[in-house]
Amino acid sequence: MIGGLFDAMQPAHICQYQRITYSMTPVFEDFDLSGTLLKNRIVMAPLTRSRAPRDVADERVALYYTQRATAGLIVSEGTPISREGQGYLFNPGIFTPEQIAGWRLTTNSVHAAGGRMFAQIWHVGRVSHPSIQEDGKTPVSASSKRPSGAMAYGYDADGKPDLVEAPTPRQLATDEVARIVQEFAQAAANAIEAGFDGVEIHGANGYLFEQFMNPLVNDRTDQYSAATLENRLRFTLEVIDAVVARIGANRVGIRISPYGQLFDMPHYPEIDETYITLASEIGRRQLAYVHVMDQSGFVVGETVVGAGETGFPGLLRKLKGYLPNTALILAGGMTRERAEKLIGDGVIDLAAFGTPFIANPDLVARLKNDWPLNMPIRSTFYGGGAEGYIDYPAYTAA
Ligand SMILES: Cc1cc2nc3c(=O)[nH]c(=O)nc-3n(C[C@H](O)[C@H](O)[C@H](O)COP(=O)(O)O)c2cc1C
Repeated sequence: MIGGLFDAMQPAHICQYQRITYSMTPVFEDFDLSGTLLKNRIVMAPLTRSRAPRDVADERVALYYTQRATAGLIVSEGTPISREGQGYLFNPGIFTPEQIAGWRLTTNSVHAAGGRMFAQIWHVGRVSHPSIQEDGKTPVSASSKRPSGAMAYGYDADGKPDLVEAPTPRQLATDEVARIVQEFAQAAANAIEAGFDGVEIHGANGYLFEQFMNPLVNDRTDQYSAATLENRLRFTLEVIDAVVARIGANRVGIRISPYGQLFDMPHYPEIDETYITLASEIGRRQLAYVHVMDQSGFVVGETVVGAGETGFPGLLRKLKGYLPNTALILAGGMTRERAEKLIGDGVIDLAAFGTPFIANPDLVARLKNDWPLNMPIRSTFYGGGAEGYIDYPAYTAA
């Protein structure tokens, strides 16, 4: 019976159906990201791969990104703005001349392949370990609270690279905050010098920005305290303003993860209010984009991190309302169907894919042609060599 139904469908009907479905959503069409022209609306999400020897991006890193350069936009893996801001070994940073030169290999190669690339600039705050810090210093934070269960990737007691527990941090003194703001601005300038098209400020996933924004983590008493929303957002807005002053708003994006719980970020009653206020400030400043990571369903080690029952979908629409000239990107469990629906409905502008890009260098062509996807192999996500990094095959009909 079912076979009969399909037999009765003429190819012309199928084509017509496909034309109607696909032409209504511009996922595979150009997009003007505040002056950076993208060839489609598919974004490669930032993916830490911990494969940079001496924390410098090398030729292999360049090859990995170039294989994925058909994405409309690539956002680099988190790139630390300073040694203090680093929480994982073998992350390619953006604060030394050698690191800038190293990244230039990637940006030149991605541009030659017709791609566009932003650098995700990153300070982990308390999610670090003395074995990664200069002279074994204690990691710093907005807070003096230890992130329960948070693991950094540093050296164990035997000096071997391993997951190591993040200790109780040292709370930053007020005048040190200005120093970090300037380090973000310098990192942004370095990223432009390294040939990136712009930067994404890493305001997501429980790192330094969230340590200021979350009132259950921020235990300060100065003008960055949790006493008021203005205070909680002060550091984030100061960084945005300093980075914008250095490289221009059209080259600046920010990643956020409302309702995210990574690295001991408890939910608090004012989550919507916090991110709506932040979005309205970003909208006024006309940044290039806001990149939302939906953490529900995100797997860390063996644990599924759930955003839980929240107002997340509604929040997305509210944020969009405050961003008339700023693109909205969504990441987390994205599929072609979801991308088409959300972009078609005007909820988001660009759709970001993380793990699918690890396993599918030609993800855009696979999505466009409905070709099957390679499955990502978790054991090779972080660290190691070429395996699970530059050896995932492109699709072949055979
Ligand atoms: C191996 C791995 C590394 C990641 N590294 C980063 C990172 O450096 N910065 C960041 O903001 N998110 C990072 N993420 C989160 C991804 O950008 C993305 O939001 C997440 O994987 C959800 O998207 P997906 O369901 O398409 O994989 C990482 C995720 C994975 C799996």
